[in-house]
Amino acid sequence: MTELLNRTDRDVLRAADLLRAGALVAFGTETVYGVGADALNAQAVAAIFAAKGRPHFNPLICHYESEEAAFAHVEAPEMARRLADTFWPGPLTMVLPRRVTCPVALLAGAGLETLAVRVPAHPVAMRLCRAFGRPIAAPSANRSGGVSPTSVAHVLAGLEGRIAAVIESGPCRVGVESTVVDLSGPEPFLLRPGGVNLEALEAAIGPVRRGITPGRAEASRTLRSPGLLVSHYAPALPLRMAAKDVRADEGLLAFGPPLPGAGAVFQLSESGNLNEAAARLFEGLHWLDAAAGLAGIAAMPVPETGLGLAINDRLARAAAPRG
Ligand code: TXA
Ligand code: MG
Repeated sequence: MTELLNRTDRDVLRAADLLRAGALVAFGTETVYGVGADALNAQAVAAIFAAKGRPHFNPLICHYESEEAAFAHVEAPEMARRLADTFWPGPLTMVLPRRVTCPVALLAGAGLETLAVRVPAHPVAMRLCRAFGRPIAAPSANRSGGVSPTSVAHVLAGLEGRIAAVIESGPCRVGVESTVVDLSGPEPFLLRPGGVNLEALEAAIGPVRRGITPGRAEASRTLRSPGLLVSHYAPALPLRMAAKDVRADEGLLAFGPPLPGAGAVFQLSESGNLNEAAARLFEGLHWLDAAAGLAGIAAMPVPETGLGLAINDRLARAAAPRG
């Protein structure tokens, strides 16, 4: 059974105790819900991979209560410090070289010499990190390959009975996962578009390389981030992107005035607001997936600016041929 916890101090302390005991606890962040374990406890980290059915070569993000705590475990060049000062706490993950003294379980980083670190901005995530006092290794709280959760209901739909507890944390303000930027090489490299816009990132540190285009064959060859499997975030129904029309047996993921004729419509943002659309994206995929009588999902075009980059990345993965 999975215990349902609330946002009270008592329940957050209970969650920290569970983590200390090596158990798995799901909690809200400003991006999506994560399923956390004590990052220093290799067995607890292994349990995350088992609960999600996640391939062991796909490393996890470690969540810290502060920049100081994070940079005590990884080597942070000037650029990383600037990004931390600008975007932390917030939806940005940095991949940096582990310090030789880094106590985080090697399995959390899938044996790599780098570690992904982030300081989340959600009040529940922050309180849990502080109460626990150690880094929390936490991927999104969904079964591997599935759609990320933005509510307790989504978490339980995938992981009920597989994790010790989930903290009811309210909504996820951003709604798509953190931006992952690799700063371990000679130049910054965008591994995953996400909650921090590329534009904002580049305003802070200058040009950032982008190499991976989801859905393209070369993606697998240029794969820098083992977790960036092309087919990912996949709803059960097949999905087509940038749809110009919709069939009666399809659910429509609308952005702006909806195309006529759909079997069901989920509106991401009537006014075409990308932040609103990102916050509603996974809710929409979960909802259409559960709607009766649909044979597929048609997603309307979303512009490639701001959070549109992250939205299109997730839609492309959802649309990619299933591996
Ligand atoms: O917003 C988020 O980032 C959420 C919340 C819970 O924080 N977490 C999340 O975790 O999305 P996950 O495991 O679903 O995605 C982590 C991504 C994966 O694509 C993984 O491959 C990449 O980060 N990653 C982690 N460590 C890495 C490393 N050392 N080198 C390269 N990529 C890494
Ligand atoms: Mg994930």
